[in-house]
Amino acid sequence: MNNKEDHFKKVISHAKEYGFVFQSSEIYDGLNAVYDYGQNGAELKKNIREYWWKAMVHINSNIVGLDSAIFMHPTVWKASGHVDAFNDPLVDNKDSKKRYRADVLIEDYCSKIELKINKEINKGKKRYGDDFDLTEFISTNKKIIDYQNKIDSISKRLASSLENENLSDVKQLIEELEIADPLTGSKNWTDVKQFNLMFGTKLGAASEHSTDLYLRPETAQGIFVNFLNVQKSGRMKIPFGIAQTGKAFRNEIVARQFIFRMREFEQMEMQFFIKPGTQNKWYKYWKENRLNWHLSLGMGEEKYRFHDHGKLAHYADAATDIEFKFPFGFKELEGIHSRTDYDLNQHEKFTGKKLRFYDPEMNESYTPYVLETSIGLDRMFLAVLSSSLIEEILENNSIRKVLKIPSVLAPYKAAILPLVKKDGLPEIGKKILNDLKLDFNVFFDEKDAIGRRYRRQDAIGTPLCITVDHQTLNDMTVTIRFRDSMEQQRVNVNELLPLINKYASMKNWLNKL
Ligand code: GAP
Repeated sequence: MNNKEDHFKKVISHAKEYGFVFQSSEIYDGLNAVYDYGQNGAELKKNIREYWWKAMVHINSNIVGLDSAIFMHPTVWKASGHVDAFNDPLVDNKDSKKRYRADVLIEDYCSKIELKINKEINKGKKRYGDDFDLTEFISTNKKIIDYQNKIDSISKRLASSLENENLSDVKQLIEELEIADPLTGSKNWTDVKQFNLMFGTKLGAASEHSTDLYLRPETAQGIFVNFLNVQKSGRMKIPFGIAQTGKAFRNEIVARQFIFRMREFEQMEMQFFIKPGTQNKWYKYWKENRLNWHLSLGMGEEKYRFHDHGKLAHYADAATDIEFKFPFGFKELEGIHSRTDYDLNQHEKFTGKKLRFYDPEMNESYTPYVLETSIGLDRMFLAVLSSSLIEEILENNSIRKVLKIPSVLAPYKAAILPLVKKDGLPEIGKKILNDLKLDFNVFFDEKDAIGRRYRRQDAIGTPLCITVDHQTLNDMTVTIRFRDSMEQQRVNVNELLPLINKYASMKNWLNKL
């Protein structure tokens, strides 16, 4: 097992052990790719959602919120293109009976070639030391050039076969590259087929009168169909945005990597309605704005990168992903899409109702273009959890497991710990708890030795521990212990609220944006 796999396994088991994430219906042996959030996970998730909501809706006077239903009229999904085009190419292995995404098998093959390139680069670095010039090395090393050419030609062929729905060529590519089932090594593949990712369900009790519905695969369509309702009732002027958070459902063929790819997940999406022709400006603006939101959390600039799309979705004229360095490599965390007027036009076409904006200055109506930002809440949760879990070796050689979660997102902002369970210390602790609990989520713990209590708070990411001891009885001062440095400081109880505010209030963190 390599270090990255090892770290990822630790994240998954930590998430369970400390009440962040549980397998759904675990006592029934679980349900594949469906997860429940435990007592600490629910808090962390709520805080991420709130941090996003405040940054998008409250900070921007021209963005408002929405909470549309999961069930929508089935024709919505015909209009949006999801019935016809929301497919993944799948292939089965005849021997192992395992099912895979054909494009992912081919992409994984390319990733292996990329690893070989990295190996060559590392060799070069060793050989040339300080004189190593990466750009020159990549452009002159014969092996690397061959590897890169191979990746490019495979990627180009895959993109064109998928674009042209040429699934037999996708299968041929798998065979030519001699790609084997990663689990069994078998190369005995079925034909490649398209598989629609939407979950179907029925509305109505009597089967003959019931209507076929879909569980929404994205929250965005709820925004599009309410565009005029919000614009008119809120007297919104272009440019303006509508944001919402909520569940989405996809019958993923290969649901894996814990909460990275789930069948039921939550999205935080914003559609920004703009004047046609201004989409390049707004695309740049939202790319920068969203990256800044991520960077404000202080998890490290090097963990993010943009990946601009070559192959665009049917509705987009430009698209990029903000990728995050997960334990299994850089992967999509958020998408920023210039969606043109595709969706509003489609809904106009299917409903016969005009979805236009009357611009009083121009004295004309037009169909707005749309800039979308779309982030998976669960993926953001995984990004935070996986990059925060750290094992430190202390001076006495013991290991401290600590979640260095950005304190604004931490489930509890502070823990109140009476040193002993007597002499009136718990009573003072309770009084402090009551004074703080309406401003912040704070934890009270009087069980076990203080060291063990500190460790429990480290493991769930509580940034501050407040210890009430015998000195408190005399001068109403307490000890504050800081999670990251483990340093301690003596402060008066009156200073606690401003101190927690400084470390963990949304206001302070959002001010960095
Ligand atoms: N409205 C546009 C849209 O839905 P997307 O790229 O398909 O675009 C947006 O999804 C975001 O939703 C992704 O960047 C990812 O964070 C999250 N997401 C998508 N599928 C997911 C899944 N199966 N499990 C968890 N998160 C998912």
